[in-house]
Parts: sequence; C-alpha cells; structure tokens
Amino acid sequence: MGNETIAPLIDSSDEWIRRRCGIESRRRAAPDEDLVMMATAAASKALAGAGVDPHDVSAVLVATMSHRGRATTVAPLVADLLGSSSAAAMDLGAACAGFPYALATADALVRSGAAGYVVLVGAERMTDIIDERDRGTAFLFGDGAGAVVVGPAQECGIGPVIWGADGSGSELLRYDEAGILRMAGPEVFRWATSVVPDVARRALDAAGISAGDLAAFIPHQANLRITSVAAKALGLGPHVTVATDIVTNGNTGAASIPQAMAALAGTTGPALLVGFGAGLSYAAQVVELP
Ligand code: COA
Repeated sequence: MGNETIAPLIDSSDEWIRRRCGIESRRRAAPDEDLVMMATAAASKALAGAGVDPHDVSAVLVATMSHRGRATTVAPLVADLLGSSSAAAMDLGAACAGFPYALATADALVRSGAAGYVVLVGAERMTDIIDERDRGTAFLFGDGAGAVVVGPAQECGIGPVIWGADGSGSELLRYDEAGILRMAGPEVFRWATSVVPDVARRALDAAGISAGDLAAFIPHQANLRITSVAAKALGLGPHVTVATDIVTNGNTGAASIPQAMAALAGTTGPALLVGFGAGLSYAAQVVELP
C-alpha cells in the first residue's frame, strides 16, 4: 500500500511521509490472512531453508505485539499447523524488541540443552491494532512475518545479548481502551536515537568485535531517520550493509528484523541486530549471517 492511499486519510502527503520516516509503501495482510497464517508461512519457509523437519522442532517461539485472535496465544496454533506436534510453544511479548529478545531466549534454550531446534518467528498484523486516521501512526506500520531456525552447532553464531527495559516510559507507546496502539512519536524518536547507539556499542563489545568488522547493521525498522542516526553514531563504513527494509515494508514491529535479514540473503559475516520499542524495551546481539 503506497503513501498516496494513506495520506488523504490523515491530511498528509507522500513527500512528508518519505521525508519524516523514509517509507514509500508498506504491506497489508489480505482480509482473510490472519496472524497465524502469516507466522506459519514464514516458519515453514525458514524450516525448508534450514533443511529441518517440522517433527524435529522442540520449541516454537512467536514474537508479536498485535495478536487479537480468539486463541490466547499464537505459537501453539503455528506449531500445530507446522506439524511440530511435540514442540513447546509460546508467544514472547517485547514489542519491537521481540525478535532479539526471542533470539536470546532460543540461544539459551539450545545452549542449556532444553531445546534442540527452535523455530523463532516475528509476526505482526499491525492493521489490527492501528487507527487508519491516527496521524502519528497510520503511515508508519505494516503487516509482515519473518522467521529463523536456531539449533545446535559446532560454532556458535549468536553473540551475547545486551538487553533491558524502562517501564517508566511505557506510556509513550501504549494501547488505548479499544486496544489501539497510540504513540508519542517525537519522544519515542528521542529515546530511540539515544538508546540504539549505546546498546549497539555494548553488543559489539560483548561480541569482541568493532563496528569496522561488521558486514551488516540490521536495526529494527522503525524509521529510516533512526537507522541513519545510529549508523552515523557507530561510524559505519561504506562496506557495512545497512538494512533499509522500511522503505518498502514500513515498520513491521517484531517482524522487521527477520524480514530485513531475509532481504539481505547473500550477505555473510557478522551482523549487528538491535531491537527497540514499546515497553520501553531494547535488545541487541551480533549474529553470524549464514
Ligand atoms: N502528516 C503531515 N504532517 C504531520 C503528520 C502527518 N502524518 N503528523 C504530524 N505532522 C505535522 C505536525 O502537525 C507538526 O506540524 P507543525 O510543525 O506545523 O506543528 C509537524 O508535522 C511535526 O510533528 P511531529 O509530531 O513533531 O512529527 P515528527 O517530526 O516527530 O515525525 C514521526 C513524526 C512519527 C515520523 C516521528 O516522531 C517518529 O518517527 N517517531 C518515532 C516513531 C517510531 O520509531 N516508533 C516506533 C518505535 S518501535
């Protein structure tokens, strides 16, 4: 869905939206396409790509903030549709930090031996939780899903997580009485541009590498300006591929990092992931792109 469809509803323009957040278009789920279908489709692709049989999956994690279906959680439904009948299944709620939070959880489950293969999905049907006439959010969010498979390996491809939360700022991104997401945009922008470079540096230190060693920088796709501020603060050189998925996908919450990773298929080497958003929550780690 292009900006021209949304702009008239919020007294905006294609030019304003591009300039303020870099978005040119975003995806909307079809009316009959629910969050479970989206998450399952992404998980199936990830399993096929990893060559892992769904029966061999021991845990399914779904990071999401937009589940409004009849079932209380999404993950058991996804596990059922995948045919992962003996898998533990749970949703993980850390909003737009959900993917790196869930990745750290999957990493810990595999390291401890509590799980073998873990399917980790970030999935959002943001259409269900936004107000198409809210000037502050209607243009920003999109629907999407992305997934990875985490499993035992000779060499660990997931670096130490740096994570945290500041609940004192939870009012900046919250649901109203009707369950619609409301956002204090400028305050969130200020918070994000200060927290992302700091968390990113700490994740690089924890992984024992510097920004110059990175092949890719894949922050949560919240706003292209936030990505640019962070990339500049980290001093990323031209050899580092910076994810800009937001231009065509919008902000897809917990799905944005795995979707951006998929868009960079073919890029190999260390990638820095940084998630941040409602909570306020944040998490970052360096991963080795396969
Ligand atoms: N279209 C056109 N004009 C708009 C508008 C819209 N959709 N929304 C606000 N404006 C106007 C305002 O009225 C204001 O006009 P004024 O200067 O004449 O008073 C001006 O644009 C600036 O408004 P402001 O709310 O300060 O916008 P902004 O520059 O902060 O941009 C966001 C808005 C949402 C793009 C920006 O705040 C943002 O990206 N915040 C972070 C959001 C985010 O990343 N959230 C996800 C975290 S997971």
